Amino acid sequence: MLNSGNSLRNYLSIRKDQIGFLSGVLRDGGDIARFRLLAFPYVLVNDPALIREALVDKSESLVIRGGASAGLARLIGHGILTNRGGNWRASRTGLQPLFHQAAMKSYIPTIAARVEESLERWRAFGVDSPIDIQQELLALSFRITSSTLFGWLPSFEDAAEFAAAIRVLQLDGMERYMTGFDFAPWIPLPLNRRILRARSTLLRLAQSAAEHGGAQPVDEIRSIFFAGTESPANTICFALTLLEENPQWLAQIRDSARGAVGAVGAASLDELERFGPLAQVVSESLRLFPAGWAFERVAAEDVRLGGHPIRRGTRLLFSPFLLHRNRRFWREPERFDPERFAREPTVAEGVPKYGYLPFGAGPRSCIGMRLALAEMRIILGALVSRCRWRTQHIPGEKPLGAEGSFKIRLSRPLRVQIEVA
Ligand code: HEM
Repeated sequence: MLNSGNSLRNYLSIRKDQIGFLSGVLRDGGDIARFRLLAFPYVLVNDPALIREALVDKSESLVIRGGASAGLARLIGHGILTNRGGNWRASRTGLQPLFHQAAMKSYIPTIAARVEESLERWRAFGVDSPIDIQQELLALSFRITSSTLFGWLPSFEDAAEFAAAIRVLQLDGMERYMTGFDFAPWIPLPLNRRILRARSTLLRLAQSAAEHGGAQPVDEIRSIFFAGTESPANTICFALTLLEENPQWLAQIRDSARGAVGAVGAASLDELERFGPLAQVVSESLRLFPAGWAFERVAAEDVRLGGHPIRRGTRLLFSPFLLHRNRRFWREPERFDPERFAREPTVAEGVPKYGYLPFGAGPRSCIGMRLALAEMRIILGALVSRCRWRTQHIPGEKPLGAEGSFKIRLSRPLRVQIEVA
């Protein structure tokens, strides 16, 4: 296992370029590497078999870090995302029925209705007024999540407030909790005030959802709103830019989406999963730009991983982004090629199990995966079959980046001129 050097230098470089630093640590496409950040020992795991061992087989020993959950809990309360041990189990069990297959089927017409309302809104803006598509998709995802899971349909005003708040929490709030610089949040500095305002907005909206018939506790709703909206929105943004760069795929999915999405109100989940090329494009976008590009565990006790000793307190990092570009099992990993998912949109051809991990693995994997896939396929289907769009990004500028937290996102707002048929 590689060992990478000076802990202060590492800290400074990871703050500058997280993905660049971690791919450097792996060097030569290695499977596992050790490094230090300030006082903390880290192990980066980049091999499907080791990932399975860590996230599935040894999930009792390799757990969500207490300090990280406490930091995040200050922003979003105590729910599925921040709870550990028995409290987490109770959260997961309580939320699980919302994501059952039967419930999922009933959400499809609701998702289609929300998409229709957003299309109407964009049509009203007119093609000459470029929209901030990321904020619009975040608002749409919020209205979908709230109305499907909790039976509350927020207004577009609430959704816009939500979108602005979630960005502050995900960027500024997470930056603090990830780096540990979250002391004295009560001092009325502009940044603190912004974070506190965003926290109150999220709380107010979760309370509204809870009052409108949601049987779930407010903090579970806060967790779901926080975890379940930005990632689908960002993935669609990545898909839009990828399709713009690959017009042959845009033409192909435009045809396949037309029939499928026209009848989406009546479509079953099975039909939705057979959206073919459309589903493939979503899967390939998630491969190249997995919205949760890295996540972390900590060793609660001494363990071994693939024979490597891991001392208690060591932090383990898993990066779907690096895993999905591992040349050992991905052919031309940098190339956008939805054909990889031709036979099964959630499993790539020839790639080992746990080699494709946009939704994580093991007991703490994404509870919202099926909802996310259904939502993204319907939104993207509507965009390609009903709209023409042109993004306004500066040629040559890298449109995507990883900022603040382990979320991959656009490095600046993506403005889009959109014409809705
Ligand atoms: C493109 C969309 C999405 C992506 C890429 C994504 C990715 C992930 C990943 C990688 C994890 C595991 C993190 C870890 O192991 O530490 C996760 C967890 C989670 N996701 Fe998602 N997610 C998406 C959409 C959603 C949606 C739509 C919801 C809910 C409506 C949701 C709710 C959650 C929750 C609650 C957890 C924590 C589960 C637990 O700790 O038991 N996610 N997600």
